Amino acid sequence: MKIELAESAGFCFGVKRAVDSVYSLAEKKQGPVCTLGSIIHNEHVVNDLEGKGVFVVDSPEEALADGNTTVVIRSHGVAKSVVDFLEKKGICFEDATCPFVKKIHETVSSYSERGYAVVIIGTESHPEVQGTLGWTAGNGTVIETAEEAEAFFLENPDQKVCVVAQTTFNYKKFKDLVEIISKKGYDILAVNTICNATITRQSEAAKLAARSDAMLVIGGMQSSNSHKLYEICKNQCENTFFIQTVDDLSSISLSSFTSLGITAGASTPNNIIQEVLEACQKI
Ligand code: F3S
Repeated sequence: MKIELAESAGFCFGVKRAVDSVYSLAEKKQGPVCTLGSIIHNEHVVNDLEGKGVFVVDSPEEALADGNTTVVIRSHGVAKSVVDFLEKKGICFEDATCPFVKKIHETVSSYSERGYAVVIIGTESHPEVQGTLGWTAGNGTVIETAEEAEAFFLENPDQKVCVVAQTTFNYKKFKDLVEIISKKGYDILAVNTICNATITRQSEAAKLAARSDAMLVIGGMQSSNSHKLYEICKNQCENTFFIQTVDDLSSISLSSFTSLGITAGASTPNNIIQEVLEACQKI
């Protein structure tokens, strides 16, 4: 069986940077370390970190209650009020916000201060979007669907609008929603803040799935980008399987296929990918 592993499988730059910083802090053993929310949507990594004494807190207040701890802000970033709270309370923290997300924070913060209304194209409940909203001066609106874009309305029609996107948003959908808002006649500045890492991973996965007899997508159950990858691959290759770890291979029969493609979501660690690859090579 010919096996091909997608080059872009696994951690993107921002996630790798954040995970590495937690491991590095845990190894220094200079006091307790916690992450604000799970560092990534992968229970193996979270459990492994737990074994090294790194725990997860849901709020900066919880970190404060835990005393002398170093808080790591994950790659999704957080609202300005969270950073302000940590600074004000003198809580030691490491900001592992992905630089691309930081750039969005700077953009919305700067335009918002200049009086622009800010539109974030994305999913309102997503932590990255929540974080970005928290860098506007309270004048941010989240739009995810065409209906929401149609309903977008500014009381002052002369107010300018700055539009950004959640980094993992679909580019075509972003363009369509920007077009709907543009037609309303507002003065719009649309900044495409969609990250290439996602686009590259998705288009590589689609091409690989199209030329493979079977396709494996490795990702955590909670990882939305891994499920999205699965959908994309399934559209190209009927025999696409979603697995979390090498253990799930036992329930799939791959021996009848002559070519196998493998990809993995942004939160899948390299050791899990390698284990799957090695197990497949033995088939
Ligand atoms: Fe950053 Fe792009 Fe990853 S924004 S966290 S490198 S998907």
